[in-house]
Formats: sequence, C-alpha cells, structure tokens
Amino acid sequence: MMVRGKFITFEGIDGAGKTTHLDWFREQLASRLAAHGRQVVMTREPGGTPLGETLRGILLNQPMDLETEALLMFAARREHLAQVIEPALARGDWVLSDRFSDATFAYQGGGRGLPRDKLEALERWVQGGFQPDLTVLFDVPTDTASERRSSARAPDKFESESEAFFERTRSEYLRRAAESPERFFIVDSTRSIGDIREKLEEVVASI
Ligand code: TMP
Repeated sequence: MMVRGKFITFEGIDGAGKTTHLDWFREQLASRLAAHGRQVVMTREPGGTPLGETLRGILLNQPMDLETEALLMFAARREHLAQVIEPALARGDWVLSDRFSDATFAYQGGGRGLPRDKLEALERWVQGGFQPDLTVLFDVPTDTASERRSSARAPDKFESESEAFFERTRSEYLRRAAESPERFFIVDSTRSIGDIREKLEEVVASI
C-alpha cells in the first residue's frame, strides 16, 4: 500500500525571512526523499491553483470587507486542498506550502480582529480535522520585520499594514504554536542564515 506523504507549511509575518529559506529547504527535502522515489510539491497560499492565483491577485490588491477576505482565503484553500494537496499526499508525495490556515488565524484573526470562532468554523468546514504534519514558524520582532520589508519590492495590501497590525499577527502565530506544540517548529529568525539552516537541517533529518 502507498504510504501517504507529509504536509509541511512555512509561516511568519511579512519580512520574517521565510522566503530566504524556502527553496533551500525544498532542495534538502527533495534529495532526502529521492532515495524513496518521492517528490516534493512546492506550492503557496493564497494560490497554488489557477483559481487560487486569481483570488490571490484580488486578495493582495483589492480592499474588501473583512469577512469577505476570510471567506476568499478559505475558498482558495478548499480548491488548493482538492486540486493539489490531497492528490499529492495520496500518491505519496510530500507537499511544502508557503503559508496555510495558520496565516488566516494570524492575519484575519489576530491582525484584523475577526472573531476566532468564525475562523474555527471555516477551518472545520474546509479542512475537517486536517492540519499540516509540520509547521515551521519564522518568528521575528516586528521592527526587524519592518526593516526587512522596507528594502523589498513595492508593498501589497498586507505589507503596508501598521506595526501594531503585525504585533497582533505575530502574537496569534505564537498562540497557535503554543496550542499545538507538537506541530510547530519555531525558528528564531533574528539568527544568521547559516544558524537557521543548521536548525532546518535537523528538522529535515527528523521528519
Ligand atoms: P506572501 O507574501 O508570504 O506570499 O503572502 C501573501 C500575503 O497574504 C501575506 O501578506 C499574508 C497574507 N495572507 C493572509 O492574510 N491570510 C491568509 O490566509 C494567507 C494564506 C495569506
């Protein structure tokens, strides 16, 4: 019988540095899995499907009601699960996603203040009990993240949010991590790239 693959997500506030490590992590994982004839499917949220990428363009650029924003995030996620994540895991591949539902709790819940019970209801609807096998959370103080953001490209709707917004977003990520410590690996993203890679190597070796 085919063994199901694993689902790994990368999370963190904008400017936390997760993108710096994503491709490298995928390569590490891919070379480990190649020996077993498995592949790594790299994907992202919002996005990951043609419909999801269309929704991403709208979500990142258009102002909208907060509940609409949360519903569209979960609509894109449902499509992503059905078209990409579930089929890949079922055929034994591993999936590495740049963000997943922790981001909705952190941004729409923590950052924007949407009540958690609404997000929990959507999460149950869209995912049932499904959660990542591992979530790597890049944690960094908001002032460091804001410095890193200002040297990047032109900001989208979320990246232009205030420092207070990112404080609330970061706190909600940390609350989610404390709630499910067995699922989360928290990276101190103030450390050097070399230090962080050493930690991530241990993570890859342990899964
Ligand atoms: P990215 O810049 O890491 O690709 O993420 C896109 C933006 O979308 C980022 O600012 C976080 C935001 N986002 C949410 O607000 N809610 C979500 O559920 C997801 C997946 C992303």
